[in-house]
Amino acid sequence: MNGRYILQVMLQGTQRMGWQVIFIFSWVSFCSPLPILNERDSLIEQENARRLGGNLVLGRSEEDANQKLMQLKEKEVAKAMQTGLFPPSMHFFKAKGLIDQSAVFSILKKMPKGGALHLHDYAILSVDWLVYNASYLPHCYISFCPSWTVQFKFSSPHPPMDVPPDCSEWVLLQTYRKNLNNVTQFDKSLLRNLTLVTDTPEVTYPSQAFIWRRFEKVFIAASGLISYAPVFKAYFYQALQEFYEDNVQYIELRAILPPVYELDGSTHNKSWSVAAYKDVARQFVKDHPDFVGAKIIYTAHRNQTVSQIKKAVHTALSLRAEFPDTVAGFDLHCLYHSDWEGTPVDKNVLDALLLNTSRIGHGFALAKHPAAMNLSLKMDIPIEVCPVSNQVLMLVSDLRNHPAAFLMSEGHRIVVASDDPSIFGAKGVSYDFYEMFMGIGGMSADLRTLKQLALNSLNYNTLLPEERNKALQIWQKKWEQFVAEVSDIIPELVGEMVEPSLSPCY
Ligand SMILES: *[C@@H]1O[C@H](CO)[C@@H](O)[C@H](O)[C@H]1NC(C)=O
Ligand SMILES: *[C@@H]1O[C@H](CO)[C@@H](O)[C@H](O)[C@H]1NC(C)=O
Ligand SMILES: *[C@@H]1O[C@H](CO)[C@@H](O)[C@H](O)[C@H]1NC(C)=O
Ligand SMILES: *[C@@H]1O[C@H](CO)[C@@H](O)[C@H](O)[C@H]1NC(C)=O
Ligand SMILES: *[C@@H]1O[C@H](CO)[C@@H](O)[C@H](O)[C@H]1NC(C)=O
Ligand SMILES: *[C@@H]1O[C@H](CO)[C@@H](O)[C@H](O)[C@H]1NC(C)=O
Ligand SMILES: *[C@@H]1O[C@H](CO)[C@@H](O)[C@H](O)[C@H]1NC(C)=O
Repeated sequence: MNGRYILQVMLQGTQRMGWQVIFIFSWVSFCSPLPILNERDSLIEQENARRLGGNLVLGRSEEDANQKLMQLKEKEVAKAMQTGLFPPSMHFFKAKGLIDQSAVFSILKKMPKGGALHLHDYAILSVDWLVYNASYLPHCYISFCPSWTVQFKFSSPHPPMDVPPDCSEWVLLQTYRKNLNNVTQFDKSLLRNLTLVTDTPEVTYPSQAFIWRRFEKVFIAASGLISYAPVFKAYFYQALQEFYEDNVQYIELRAILPPVYELDGSTHNKSWSVAAYKDVARQFVKDHPDFVGAKIIYTAHRNQTVSQIKKAVHTALSLRAEFPDTVAGFDLHCLYHSDWEGTPVDKNVLDALLLNTSRIGHGFALAKHPAAMNLSLKMDIPIEVCPVSNQVLMLVSDLRNHPAAFLMSEGHRIVVASDDPSIFGAKGVSYDFYEMFMGIGGMSADLRTLKQLALNSLNYNTLLPEERNKALQIWQKKWEQFVAEVSDIIPELVGEMVEPSLSPCY
């Protein structure tokens, strides 16, 4: 039966391609007792065992939850085939509304996801809080700049000293808002200043260089608000809250540690910033005992002189000595994620491996370097995959074609993260899990894949052994609750979905 079906598919395929001769030979082999089917099963088995999560053995209730989850996934994919709207193949700015309605997404939001290990300091909290809370604090000034951007600065008793080049004089926001006819509309324009989101990404961002320039402007706009000492602390607390509500148990933050300022214009050094992160994280854990905490990875840009990088390494070492429990590492960050083989940026991944890196950020080019790929597998080095970021920043358009699909099938240690969720109009890490589960992982990604991704994030981080044990305990308890809940709620979700009338063709 099965053999006949395959044969028909081949027949259609070969005729279309005009390969009748090959078909005739295939026909002969299919007429024999079909040993090929056993071989086929064995190949499938080999591939399944190799795949990320392929060796996990699920317990009985997990098996049950998995079956239900896959039923839901299949229904959603079938529906997408029917409507032609499959979110992972669409630009995130257009897909987000659909993802928000997805039943699979609602499950992924509930899933305890372990650690989010690749995040950047000033882009972790959705921007509403910056506009509706931070920019409403007293003494906030705004300056209007070219190409529809703005900058912010808190100052008292005088307006800020320096006007940014080519921008307007500083205006007190409180006064400015008072004179507006429509504050709602103005606040919406500020939200747009703080993200890359647009309804027409392909028109707004004609090239990678273009989107990077906008990206920098967005960062500058946000940093005027976030670098103000009281906002700095409150921002981090709110961000932890947002990740906590997205069922993340732990975060590692890449932090550039730029100077944080006070109303009188005085600034703090890097130790102050790390101490602030540490205190806020400690307070958050006190308020939420089922959260593990946060660590800082001091980050410098790779595009610097040797002496600048040397200095950055020294700073990293002295911060680590000062805050051994908080400062967990050093990241030589590459501004442009490597995407084209043979460029200097592309060789980053080789350098990183030779320097015994403990994780590879993005690793977008890894699949093009077979020797490096072997080495990273042998050295057991995890790769941080940030699907939404890679798509928005124009490295890949259809996420089904993300290179991590290949790494997943080869069983690489992958962890999922969200890079700069606020700038992409995302939140937490659930959207990235959705893209991994529905798009990059293909139809074979199941509950084992999800569990393995969470376990990787708890095992391949910088937690100390006793901290890791605690993290695993917290996660395990949440995982069991999640599995029980999934089994309960999915049948209802499946029932609510409209039965697709066309049979899907996967
Ligand atoms: C932010 O501002 C809104 C609107 O003023 C308010 O309802 C909310 O409680 C504030 N949130 C925080 C965390 O301060
Ligand atoms: C940024 O805000 C300013 C001030 O309201 C507005 O004029 C401008 O259009 C906004 N930029 C974007 C990209 O929306
Ligand atoms: C203000 O702007 C908002 C959003 O652009 C719009 O929905 C609302 O109708 C406007 N209000 C007035 C009074 O014009
Ligand atoms: C920051 O300043 C404090 C003193 O105010 C000093 O002890 C500390 O070493 C400085 N840290 C750095 C990284 O320069
Ligand atoms: C790197 O630095 C050089 C020299 O300072 C500069 O010309 C170049 O634009 C920088 N590249 C990036 C990606 O920032
Ligand atoms: C990396 O680790 C290997 C094995 O532990 C060691 O031989 C090598 O010297 C290390 N390389 C560097 C640059 O530290
Ligand atoms: C990678 O490893 C495989 C299996 O261990 C081996 O067959 C292959 O030659 C290696 N490739 C490279 C480029 O080192």
